[in-house]
Amino acid sequence: MPHLFDPLTLKGVTFRNRIVASPMCMYSSPGGVIGDWHYAHLAQLAAGGAGLVTVEMTAVAPEGRLTWGDSGLWNDEQMAALTPAVTAIKAGGAVPGIQLGHAGRKGSANRPWEGDDQIADDAPNGWPTLAPSPLAFGGDKLWKTPVEMSVADIARVQSDFVAAARRARSVGFEYLELHFGHGMLAQSFFSPYSNHRGDEYGGSFEGRGRFLLETVAAVREVWPDDLPLAVRFGVIEYDGRDEDTLAESIRLIRLFKEAGVDFLSVSMGFSTTTADIPWGPAFMTPVTERVRREAGLPVAIAWGMGTPELADNAIRHDQADLVKIGRALLANPHWPHAAAVSLGVERPSWATLPAPYAYWLERYHPETAIAPAASS
Ligand SMILES: Cc1cc2nc3c(=O)[nH]c(=O)nc-3n(C[C@H](O)[C@H](O)[C@H](O)COP(=O)(O)O)c2cc1C
Repeated sequence: MPHLFDPLTLKGVTFRNRIVASPMCMYSSPGGVIGDWHYAHLAQLAAGGAGLVTVEMTAVAPEGRLTWGDSGLWNDEQMAALTPAVTAIKAGGAVPGIQLGHAGRKGSANRPWEGDDQIADDAPNGWPTLAPSPLAFGGDKLWKTPVEMSVADIARVQSDFVAAARRARSVGFEYLELHFGHGMLAQSFFSPYSNHRGDEYGGSFEGRGRFLLETVAAVREVWPDDLPLAVRFGVIEYDGRDEDTLAESIRLIRLFKEAGVDFLSVSMGFSTTTADIPWGPAFMTPVTERVRREAGLPVAIAWGMGTPELADNAIRHDQADLVKIGRALLANPHWPHAAAVSLGVERPSWATLPAPYAYWLERYHPETAIAPAASS
């Protein structure tokens, strides 16, 4: 039997299976306020059968958005708009999760399909970006030089994380993930590519890790003990210094664990434009498995996991505890059902879909259903 559909309990929360709808920015929230597009998007991911549906990276402060269309959680209007999202995810039988983040020097960009380039500070939809050091991503002319954060800026952003976590709890999210990967602000504090500070927030391992650890500890104080707190962390850059980066990352993850992190979502740093990423199906398997073993935390694997057999293998062989699926779910929100069919799960429709769908797929002349998979 496949293992992808085994339930998993983290703290007081049980996921019905190991499939996670990965956080995916929709860049469709003017003013940081989500709306009808998101309710439809998130509802279909939940009804599609994922165990955990994670709302996209939601900015803790206006300057922490990647683009002007990013969702936010720095005010009560944004908080109220998230309530129907929680309701929709729960109605589909999934655990409602949210990812909070701050884009740091990668902010103030155009939406990906509108160029993905950065917008000048004083142009419409642009703003000055914040970072540990005044170093542009890639040193490229396309990217702006960010403003170096003062210690007061650091404290303010950390309190923004705390306030957003409180709001996330108030609207009923049951899983909170801090985005410490992908070259976002937190990652840029840890990476020597982006942090050249000489004060207590830079330099040594302890200095570069301080912003992340302090933020985790502060959020843990307001996030309920019985709910899982997760970090998505870029543990590797694929830049030729991988052994050193991985060893440092695992050392920091152990400290995350001591500070109250329950779950680690393994990803990449994206701190440099000169990385040589070995793109391919399930390519992060060795790294993820090692983080899980050496850091002693349950982990999610991501990137190129959209083939049911690969996803199931990651759970079966104890390489990961959850599998994050991104683009395959954009193509087919009912991917969990298709996976259950192809992996030979008993009564796959009932195993993955709500009754108003499952009944008809299983019972009503399956030989006439449109999709061959639906006849199982
Ligand atoms: C449209 C889109 C938006 C994304 N936004 C986020 C995000 O908000 N936070 C994040 O951690 N990753 C984000 N990612 C990365 C995904 O969460 C996921 O890890 C990645 O797509 C790899 O999974 P896949 O190979 O199944 O697509 C995004 C990916 C896509 C395609």
